[in-house]
Amino acid sequence: MGVQRVSVCQVGDLEVGEMRQFTVADKEILLAKTENGVSAIAPHCSHYGAPLEKGVLHNGRIVCPWHNACFSADTGKHLSAPGRNNLAKFPVHIEANTVYVELPEEITEHVTPELVEADFEADKRTFVIVGGGAASDMAAQALRQNNYQGKIIVLTAENAIPYDRTKLSKAYLQADEVGEVSQLRSADFYKQHNIEIKTSAKVTSLDVEAKQLTFGENETLGYDALLLATGGAVKQVPVDGSELDNVFTLRKAEDAKAILKAAKQSKKAVIIGSGFIGMEAAASLKQQGLEVTVVSPDKVPFEKVLGESVGKLFQQVHESNGVEFKLDEKVKALKGNGKVETAELESGEILSADMVVVGIGVKPATDFVEGLLMDEKDCSILVNQYLQAKPDVYAAGDIARFPHFITGQPTRIEHWQLAMQQGRIAACNMVGQQVMFEAVPFFWTGQFDLKLRYIGHSENYDDIVIQGSLEDKSFLAFYLEDQQVMAVSGIGRDHDIAAISELMRLRKMPEANAIKDRDIDWLEELKAV
Ligand SMILES: Cc1cc2nc3c(=O)[nH]c(=O)nc-3n(C[C@H](O)[C@H](O)[C@H](O)COP(=O)(O)OP(=O)(O)OC[C@H]3O[C@@H](n4cnc5c(N)ncnc54)[C@H](O)[C@@H]3O)c2cc1C
Ligand code: FES
Repeated sequence: MGVQRVSVCQVGDLEVGEMRQFTVADKEILLAKTENGVSAIAPHCSHYGAPLEKGVLHNGRIVCPWHNACFSADTGKHLSAPGRNNLAKFPVHIEANTVYVELPEEITEHVTPELVEADFEADKRTFVIVGGGAASDMAAQALRQNNYQGKIIVLTAENAIPYDRTKLSKAYLQADEVGEVSQLRSADFYKQHNIEIKTSAKVTSLDVEAKQLTFGENETLGYDALLLATGGAVKQVPVDGSELDNVFTLRKAEDAKAILKAAKQSKKAVIIGSGFIGMEAAASLKQQGLEVTVVSPDKVPFEKVLGESVGKLFQQVHESNGVEFKLDEKVKALKGNGKVETAELESGEILSADMVVVGIGVKPATDFVEGLLMDEKDCSILVNQYLQAKPDVYAAGDIARFPHFITGQPTRIEHWQLAMQQGRIAACNMVGQQVMFEAVPFFWTGQFDLKLRYIGHSENYDDIVIQGSLEDKSFLAFYLEDQQVMAVSGIGRDHDIAAISELMRLRKMPEANAIKDRDIDWLEELKAV
């Protein structure tokens, strides 16, 4: 295939720390200038394709503006989840101050990271990963990235290879027809890298002394190192009628398929719960043309996580799109003849419903776990900063209770990106490295035109400072505990959130007083670090 050499710009057109997208010879590339010189890489994020130019470049690290994936500007290497592939890199030549880039005829933007070939003779160990979700998939890849050549066996209760769970309540539920979910990797990928995925292989017991698991139809499997990444077990609403047809929970691909299929034949949906799953499902079903009512004991959606004013903004946007709310209210019973027909509320009101989606949270899926330290209340697995529960046993993702990035307090967080990052760190430690998990958590949600990003973690904020305008859907909300910024949410301020995420990662966030006193230019603040 031919390579074309094209001139792009003058060296002086870019400052150190600047990146810009160019279209040359009908192809899009991103030029980034760092202390090491000018590099040319693919311009779109390997997660969902965000334009990286709109993100932040700091100390050679590019932060994606949408969901916080990070890449090396010099090499295109994927540094941090979500996304899992590197950015393509193109040779750069500088002659007489002009930047020339060598471009192939066809550009493949995203490149699988280098993975070592398995060699079961050279390495006779067996590493087992339980679960087939975000943490598990990343861990399997990271084991091979970190030169582990032994067996990798993934046991998942689902009958599918890992897929993008976050889309189930958003794009998937908004689709025209019931289709396939987005796989994270193709079946060929796992085969090629000798990652054995056993589907419909639910683990039923764990013997940590004997280093053995039981799964499926009483099969047993020994391990040299084990990663537990079984995620959340969805809660069903404890009322009469929850077993009726067309009453759904939403955690797995099959759930989303069943919900979408029912939605195509329904007129009225009741959503129980105003958390992220409930509200995203409400938005998606409304966009499918259904009449949607959200019933929740909360006075304001998301009040506990995002605060009253941000929560009210979400409520208003839902209402302006036609979603109805019954707040400070509970469902007493679901009724119907085989299939749900009504939801009876504690106030006595009766809502008719062709379908019901329950989104009242999950509990760690650790029923089979014995012999490890677990949290008394929710049975999550207690791990140290290396994500280790016991020598050779690690836990990651929704089931892990790990030291908080600032306070060190045992914390459990249900985010996609965090699960992936923990999967990667656990894998590094399984192969004998000593890598601490220190990442700052990040999550996102999308409901109608609201795209919220949230960096950090605060369960007990005592003050919220809002900069910008809620009305214009362009603001940052700072969640403070004892005058320290523990978390920041934002809508319409992706660039700022990317800069803030770097400041938080570097533990360089300004104190609360500075935020209260003035509107901070976050890019300048980051540049000064
Ligand atoms: C519909 C939906 C939308 C979401 N949207 C977002 C979002 O926008 N942003 C965000 O940050 N987070 C989002 N989340 C949360 C995010 O998906 C989770 O935090 C993340 O998937 C956790 O990853 P995990 O690897 O810990 O577990 P999971 O991804 O849940 O994977 C766990 C796996 O373990 C398997 N398993 C369970 N028990 C067993 C067993 N005994 N034996 C074998 N296998 C078992 C399960 O079947 C599953 O395959 C969403 C979640 C859902 C359900
Ligand atoms: S599109 Fe870049 S992190 Fe999602």
